[in-house]
Amino acid sequence: MIDINKEIAGLQWDKEPKGLYEPIAYTLSAGGKRLRPQLALIAAEIVMNGGLLNGDALENTLPAALALEVFHNFTLLHDDIMDKAPVRRGRPTVHVQWNDNTAILSGDQMLIEAYKLLSDVPADKLPQVLKWFNEMATGICEGQQYDVDFEHASQVTIEDYMMMIEKKTSLLLAYAMKIGGYIAGGTPAQLEALYQYGLHIGLAFQIQDDILDVYGNPETFGKTIGGDICSNKKTYLLLSAMEHADPESKAELLQWLLVSDRDAEKIAAVTAIYTRLGVRELSESVMEEHTAQALAQLDKLPQNGATERLRVLAEQLVTRKS
Ligand code: IPE
Ligand code: IPE
Ligand code: MG
Ligand code: MG
Ligand code: MG
Repeated sequence: MIDINKEIAGLQWDKEPKGLYEPIAYTLSAGGKRLRPQLALIAAEIVMNGGLLNGDALENTLPAALALEVFHNFTLLHDDIMDKAPVRRGRPTVHVQWNDNTAILSGDQMLIEAYKLLSDVPADKLPQVLKWFNEMATGICEGQQYDVDFEHASQVTIEDYMMMIEKKTSLLLAYAMKIGGYIAGGTPAQLEALYQYGLHIGLAFQIQDDILDVYGNPETFGKTIGGDICSNKKTYLLLSAMEHADPESKAELLQWLLVSDRDAEKIAAVTAIYTRLGVRELSESVMEEHTAQALAQLDKLPQNGATERLRVLAEQLVTRKS
């Protein structure tokens, strides 16, 4: 059994210049759910069918699992600049603790470190893994660009939103599953089921993240509440509020979208509109649909302890607080 936290803690950042490496150590030691490497390792275990087929496969998956987590943390450094987020995992974000330049450059270095880790994938699997990793990475950049474009766009649809979150969030989970399964020798049909599980769990995951951004407890969530409202993020909550609002609520919402200097007041007012319109419940039902679609994929896979862990994980993600 691989202890992913221990493996991440074993990465060495005691290097010069400190200004480049300390923010990396700071970020990777701050905790986090380690969801992506866990998914890669579980996917490997599933196709190994409990480890009976190939004992080395799990060890072989570790470099990719670590690469996925370091890559994810890189995206967070840049995302927090883009979103002007002050807190992550209960600590000041890197651009606040240091400055924007540090978060940019240490982030860049983390991206490079992710590829260094990836280069330890077994040579016969590396070309395909690299291709998928790059598809994933480009998709995330595209998703992040849509995310910021949508802040300033007035005609964003729920379909646009689903496309955007598929790119910025789901692809990483989907490819974590596919890459983990592939390194461990999964069949094409198994890899497709793993990918689809990751994709749907990712959509549910981002919708839940949007809900927690409004209704979460900052202590457990580890991030500031209301950031999405302040920056006019086109979240599922906002888009379904626009769709279901009576003319008066809609006008009120549109008014608040123009306000950029009264954060606390804006958060309270928009949250009140969401609550009145019941958009949290609407968002939760979409989240549950995607969780169900993810779970349905599991029937196509070998049934073993690891498959069961994915079942539990899917349920845990929809009720998560962090
Ligand atoms: C944060 O990801 C970015 C999103 C896709 C919402 P996580 O919620 O997995 O963050 P950590 O790694 O657990 O802190
Ligand atoms: C996460 O979107 C997407 C990426 C980091 C690529 P968010 O901006 O919602 O993530 P948080 O809420 O800051 O973790
Ligand atoms: Mg963002
Ligand atoms: Mg963000
Ligand atoms: Mg968020």
